[in-house]
Amino acid sequence: MDFSFMSEYYQFYIEGAKITVTLAFFTVIVGFIFGLLLALLKLSKNKLLNFIATAYIEFIRGTPLLVQLYIVFYGLPHLGISFPGLTAGVIALSVNSAAYTAEIIRAGIQAVDKGQMEAARSIGMGKAMSMRYIIIPQAVKNILPALGNEFITIIKESSIASIIGINELMFNADTIRGNTFKPFEPLIVVAVVYFILTFSLSKLMGYFERRMNTDDRG
Ligand code: ARG
Repeated sequence: MDFSFMSEYYQFYIEGAKITVTLAFFTVIVGFIFGLLLALLKLSKNKLLNFIATAYIEFIRGTPLLVQLYIVFYGLPHLGISFPGLTAGVIALSVNSAAYTAEIIRAGIQAVDKGQMEAARSIGMGKAMSMRYIIIPQAVKNILPALGNEFITIIKESSIASIIGINELMFNADTIRGNTFKPFEPLIVVAVVYFILTFSLSKLMGYFERRMNTDDRG
């Protein structure tokens, strides 16, 4: 094993990690907004809206992210809709993540005990008010940790964006692999960098989760 390439190339990992985190960050935000909308459609009593949301979620979850990325990056320009690489990456990842996030939100809301709504209504709160003050605050506790997991997933899945030439972590590692003729060490390093990102994020989430739970007890 020879890691001497690092002195010359470490900057590639740092720059790549910045792009990876940027990509994942925007994806989680856009994916959340879009996912929230889908979750509301899915929870609505309107059959048509319900069907649209369900169809979207099932289709996106049932097709590979790679195919979705290709459609956004290679397919849409054919219809006159083209995006720069990084934007295409964020769009494809968000379109994908929204489907998963929608289910996280829906499940998080539905996991709140039915009795909570009944109790709120029985003391005279309207439906909207019960949602806002009773259901949502409890649902957030179910949703936030799962959303953190989605962030971690996106950090890892964003490596697929290297394939359309976005110079994120995986792309840069591959460049180093080519430049140094070393197939092994640069990939080990990139794995470690991904792990540092995801592990720190999961520790951070653990910290917030513990804090949320303390509130409950006291
Ligand atoms: N590798 C999966 C696929 O090709 C992507 C899963 C994305 N998961 C997520 N939670 N956003 O479909």
